[in-house]
Order: sequence, then structure tokens, then C-alpha cells
Amino acid sequence: MARRGGNGNGNGNGPVSQRLAKGASETWTKTQGSQVWTSIFRPGSIFRKGYTDSPRNRSYVIMNSVLYHLHPVKVKRHAVKVSYTLCLGGLSFFLFIILTVTGIFLMFFYRPTAAQAWDDIKTLETSITFGLLIRNMHRWAAHLMVISVFLHMSRVFYHGAYKPPREFNWVVGVVLLLLTLLLSFTGYLLPWDQLSLWAVTVGTNMMGYAPVLGSQVRFVLLGGVDIGTDTLLRWYVLHVLFFPFIIVIFMAIHFWRVRKDGGVSGPL
Ligand code: HEM
Repeated sequence: MARRGGNGNGNGNGPVSQRLAKGASETWTKTQGSQVWTSIFRPGSIFRKGYTDSPRNRSYVIMNSVLYHLHPVKVKRHAVKVSYTLCLGGLSFFLFIILTVTGIFLMFFYRPTAAQAWDDIKTLETSITFGLLIRNMHRWAAHLMVISVFLHMSRVFYHGAYKPPREFNWVVGVVLLLLTLLLSFTGYLLPWDQLSLWAVTVGTNMMGYAPVLGSQVRFVLLGGVDIGTDTLLRWYVLHVLFFPFIIVIFMAIHFWRVRKDGGVSGPL
């Protein structure tokens, strides 16, 4: 039988499968040469290929990755021992993340007015899917954060890590402790139940007895002379916006200082 044009399909370029394979291989070569590809799979990337494992290349991997670069390229052996820091600083930060995520969830269902706040909390617990769980996660994480920040401070004190060159970071830490307590206290009023009301009444009354500016501070915090809707709105804004914003700035300074002071302090 007579055959047409060499390979039998009439156009001289081989069977369809061969042409497809050729096309695929050309596309693959083109992709690998593209700017996007080479910017991701470049030397130093965690997706590197054919990259020899040397101390220098390992450093590149850390420095060139947006996530890894948050860690120092090298850490001292004692610093990665869990028994040294007990990871209490990291745990405090982790709890802060949990609080942020669960807090955002709660904000979808909570309105900070005297008429609605308590009802919203009850609805959240009884009618919203996962509402009770998320509320309790937020509450427990808040308690645990106060405890873990305090234990972290005790650990730092025990190891004498407040001494130069870390004295500035100790002061930043004191501000962080204060902000953690303020976040806890402002959150306490939000359920608008008897416990919150009287706890805040007692707290702000105590402030009123402070010398010189006591009554003015009390007035500003209550948004009036008595505890009421204005107080609730004021504390809500402080709790969900003002203090979180300030604490994030101080945390960034704190972590940056840990790195600048030569990483975690040496063992005793
Ligand atoms: C929101 C609260 C805080 C967070 C998230 C936090 C986080 C951290 C982290 C992750 C470290 C690295 C080492 C480690 O985990 O121990 C650290 C170190 C340190 N923190 Fe904090 N911290 C907080 C509060 C405090 C407080 C209250 C103090 C002291 C008053 C403090 C003082 C220090 C000091 C001096 C270091 C250096 C320790 C060393 O080099 O051994 N921090 N912090």
C-alpha cells in the first residue's frame, strides 16, 4: 500500500502523541526559563534544585525566604534547648495569635451597647455554630497569656537576662506585661454581666483615689461619672483596636531587640 508523506498522518510531523509530547516539552523548557519560575526556584530558595548542602547555602535559604528570614541564620545551641526558655515567650506570642483569630470571630456577633451586649453573648453561646467553643478559647487563651507572660518574665529574671545589653528589652517587656493586663481588664467588661459590671466599678473607683489626676482618669475611662453604654463603647474600642495595635508594635520591637542583642542570652 502506498504511504503518504512519511509518517502516515498526512502532514509530515509525526503522530499526534509525538507532537503533543514535543509541545509539552517546549512549554516546560519555556516555563523554566521564565522570570516567574527563576524568581521562585532560584539559588537560595527553599524550592532549590541541585543545590549542595553547605553552611553558606543553608544561610542563603534562611535569608532569601520571607518566612525563614524571621529566624536568625545561626542560633546558639543552648538557645534551641526547650529546657532553657521553656518557649514561654513564643507561647505568649502564640496565645496572642489565638486571641486575635478568635477575637475577630467574636466581633462578627457582638454589639457593644448596654442593650445588646449581654444578649449577643448569650446568642453566641447558644445559637451560633462553634460560638461557645470560640468564646471559651478566647477566654482561656486570655487567662493563659497572662500566666505565660508572667512566667516568661520570671524565666528571664532567673537567668539574669535583663542585664546589659538586654536592659532595654526588659523595659519593652514591662510595657508588654502592662499591655497584656490592660487587654485582659478591658475585655472583662464586654460580656456586660454582673461580674463585669462590679469588677469594673471597683477597678475604676480605685483609680479615682489616685492622687492629683485620679478623678479625671476615672472620668475619661468611664466616659462619664457612672458606668454605662459610653463606658462599654470606650472599653470595646480600647480592647479590640487600641491596645492590640500598641502591643503589636511593642512585640515587633521586642523580637527585633532579641535578635540585635545577640539572640537568646547564654546559660547561667
Ligand atoms: C506579650 C508578651 C511577651 C512576648 C510575646 C514575649 C516574647 C519573647 C520571645 C519570643 C523571646 C525569645 C526567648 C524566649 O522565648 O524566652 C523573648 C525574650 C525576652 N523577653 Fe519577652 N515577651 C513578652 C513579655 C516580656 C516581659 C513581660 C518581659 C520582662 C519584663 C520580657 C523580657 C524579655 C527579655 C529580657 C528577653 C531576652 C531573654 C534572653 O535573651 O534570654 N518579655 N520574649
